[in-house]
Amino acid sequence: MNWEKLTFSYTKTNTIICSHYKDGEWSPLESRCDDSISISALSASLHYGIQAFEGLKAYRGKDGKIRLFRPFENAKRLRRSADYLGIASPNQEMFVEACKRVILENIEYLPPYEYRASMYIRPLVIGVGAQIDLVCPQEALFIVAAMPIGSFAGSINRPAKVLLAQDHDRAAPLGSGSYKIGGNYAAAIYAGVKAKKEGYSSVLYLDSAKHEYIDEFSSSNFFAIRGDSYITPDSESVLPSITNSSLMQLAKDSGMSIERRRVKLDELETFEEVGACGTAIVILPVSRVDDKMNKKSYIIGDPDITGERCLYLYKRLTGIQFGEVRDFHNWCLIVEK
Ligand SMILES: Cc1ncc(COP(=O)(O)O)c(C=O)c1O
Repeated sequence: MNWEKLTFSYTKTNTIICSHYKDGEWSPLESRCDDSISISALSASLHYGIQAFEGLKAYRGKDGKIRLFRPFENAKRLRRSADYLGIASPNQEMFVEACKRVILENIEYLPPYEYRASMYIRPLVIGVGAQIDLVCPQEALFIVAAMPIGSFAGSINRPAKVLLAQDHDRAAPLGSGSYKIGGNYAAAIYAGVKAKKEGYSSVLYLDSAKHEYIDEFSSSNFFAIRGDSYITPDSESVLPSITNSSLMQLAKDSGMSIERRRVKLDELETFEEVGACGTAIVILPVSRVDDKMNKKSYIIGDPDITGERCLYLYKRLTGIQFGEVRDFHNWCLIVEK
């Protein structure tokens, strides 16, 4: 593998792990070399988007150990998303067992410590079985795939510009925004692709009722720093990010206060630092938000220099993930044969 050239893209590895839910029970976990599956063309996942997924990472630590970051949180979130769609999901033990197994069976794809890259684990559940009526599928497939991905190390050192979504919403109030389900990403893809073409790193969504409050980015949460406060939106429509909750804890540990509340768009100009956070990017510092509709740009900090709090939190979190900083909160699960 050319570890230096890794990006956030798919690489086929040795195996995927699968289990089939039917007649009220999951089949034993099975490893498959082929990453194609055979399902009915009438499956509800294909017609009605009945699918939920997760994303988590495994790291090769400084001490050579394999660390899987907060997998029980992802297991809980997958269950919450699957329950929303009315499909079966694995329990936490089965979820974690499948993640461990996919890592160990694909161990040669886990990047060495020096490259500060990681293995991305993608679990998903999809509704299967032939149906045309809009009812909860009685059958499901649980699949876990693993692939090496890049460090995104560049991104922490390169503050980004993002586009404010004024003519597009991702999730309705009281809708599905807080669940990790394919439909939310389908709803955001058009705006995301358009923004990328215009040179933006991401799209920042507002509350879809009034466009007054900040929600989140297309695939990451929003946080801001002002003085000693870590500020992040409290909204029914955003995904409960495991990275954000970890950063909040680390900010609290360092003596900062946490403000989890509705965040007015106007406040953007008062923030000293803004970041997008999520498993894939960890932290992407944001130095500019363009509101094209109102011909206004919000400039945050220095466009060439990452703010010191973002940098501190990034180093702290990745330090825990790579086994360089003590894992006070027991977030990492050591994966062994
Ligand atoms: C819409 C959205 N928000 C936030 C996040 C960040 O969540 P996490 O930190 O659990 O990866 C993601 C990424 O999964 C996402 O897709």
